[in-house]
Order: sequence, then structure tokens, then C-alpha cells
Amino acid sequence: MSRKQRIVILRELLQAGLDLLGEQNEVCLGGLGSTPEDWLNLVRGADAIVADPTVPVGADLLDSAGSDLKLVANFAVGYDNVDLDACAERGVVVTNTPDVLTDATAELAVALTLAAARDVPAAERSLRAGEWSGWDPAAYRGFELTGSTVGVVGMGRIGRRYAEMLRGFGVEYLYTSRRAREEVEVELGARRVGLNQLLAEADVVSLHLSANDETRHTINRETIRLMKPSAVLVNTGRGALVDSSAVAAALAEGRLGAAGLDVYEGEPEVPPELLDAPRTTLTPHIGSATFRARDRMAELVARNIVEVLAGRDPVTPVG
Ligand code: GLV
Repeated sequence: MSRKQRIVILRELLQAGLDLLGEQNEVCLGGLGSTPEDWLNLVRGADAIVADPTVPVGADLLDSAGSDLKLVANFAVGYDNVDLDACAERGVVVTNTPDVLTDATAELAVALTLAAARDVPAAERSLRAGEWSGWDPAAYRGFELTGSTVGVVGMGRIGRRYAEMLRGFGVEYLYTSRRAREEVEVELGARRVGLNQLLAEADVVSLHLSANDETRHTINRETIRLMKPSAVLVNTGRGALVDSSAVAAALAEGRLGAAGLDVYEGEPEVPPELLDAPRTTLTPHIGSATFRARDRMAELVARNIVEVLAGRDPVTPVG
């Protein structure tokens, strides 16, 4: 009889995914509280590993898993936590969960755009604190999205969906992308420009890049200087795209209008300067956190495992 294949879920996979893994396999769960030391032990003898954005997958983890390892299935579309070269050197396939979270993440970017522009959280906090003393024409004012210029930095699947969702606001679009995206130029009249021009002209700057050495701190002290003092910055990509100290300082000094951020460097720590900055809407990395998207992500993780362990091609390989 062939041996059971060992699937190690380093933290958590939702039931929708577990249901697809089948009883013929051995499934081990680390749980949300598991530590890097736990992971090194858990992965021993694994045929497949399920990681997520909080789990760095590097040579040490792969070597601890050993030579049976065939797949790292990342429970996320982003895979900056996975050392692709180390996986390739060991013949390990890497998969992610694209498409199924596009709508959810784009919707959160829209929500953060509006919440930050109108500073909804601060208005709500003020009301709950009993500070609202009645209608005041000067109070609680924010920026208006209608008719503004929206800069989409990175016109991939999520950037495009975000742009499409904003159509009802009659906005103009600028975008950056390694290659021209003819479809969005035709569909939305979007103009492809360099990053500096986008930052200088956009009222809203929304980041939809993956994190890597080239994109680290795309928004920093220097690039913020190019932006309008009323600009709204939105980040649903990765925390590393933004130098949070520079953003916090610019908000405090009125050199940036508002920020809506879902991701942070060093999560789950949130840079204290951001917590203290004005006109800042902060959410805890919930871009894909809808019931639908997270179930579909879990299913896609499981489908990749089932295919690869059966010797077939992965459904959504990376690279
Ligand atoms: C979440 O951050 C993802 O990359 O899917």
C-alpha cells in the first residue's frame, strides 16, 4: 500500500479547503498560535506545505521538510513570504490564490478610499465619544471622490477591478504598469504615466503592487513630496510598499491629505506613528476577508495540493 501523503498546514486552512483534502492523506495543522520553531518541526517529512503571508518560507523550512516536499501552497495571492529561488533549487512547486480574491480586495480598497477621504473612523469615534454638538458647517470635512483623478499604481487584476468599481464616481484615471494595459485604456480612458507624474497629478493614489526589492518604499519621504497635500493614499498591497514613518510625518504636517491602509511592515505590529497620525483609516490586513473570497482561496489551496500530489500540474502556479 502506498504511504499516506503528509500535508502540513502551518497555521490554518478553512473548512472549505480541508473538505477537499481527502481522508487518504495525513493532514497536520499548526494553528494560528504556532511559532517558527513549531513550523520547523511540523514540516518534517511533508509532501505539501500550506503557508500564508505571515509564514516566511525559506531554505531552512524547506530543508527541514526534506526531499519528499513537492509543493508550497500559499494561502494568499501575494507570495513575497516565499523564497522562490530556494523552492526552485529544490524542485518545489509554489502556488498562490489569484482571481478568487480580486473583487474582495478591490472592494476594500474602495472602502478605504472613501473612509480615508471622509475620515469616517474619526467622525465615528467623535460621535461615540459624545463630542458631536450638532450640525456644524466647518466640522468633519473631507475630500470628495467625484470627479477626482485616481492614480492606480500597478494595474494588475486588483488594480483594474478597483478602477472599474470607481466608474460611478466619474473619475479620471492615471496608472503605472510595466506594460501598457490597452484594455483599461479603452474601457476606462486610463492614461499610463510614470510614477512621478502619477503622484504629482493624482488626488487618490492606490497601491496595487507586489512587494519586492524594486517596489519597497515606493511611497517614501521623497515621493510624498511630489504628491498633492490633499492626496489620499490607499494601500491594500503590502506594508513594505510604504515607508510608514514618512507617511505619518506627512499626515501630521499636512503634506498628505489622508491615508487608508490595510497592510503594514512587520505585521501584526502596527507602526505607532500611524496609530497617532491624523486622517488615517487603518484596517488589520482584511483585503480578502469576505466569506466568499476566503472560502474560495481555501478551496484553491486544496485543489493545488490535490493536483500536485497526484502528479498533475498545479492549478495556479507562481512564477
Ligand atoms: C493577502 O494578503 C494576499 O496576498 O492574498
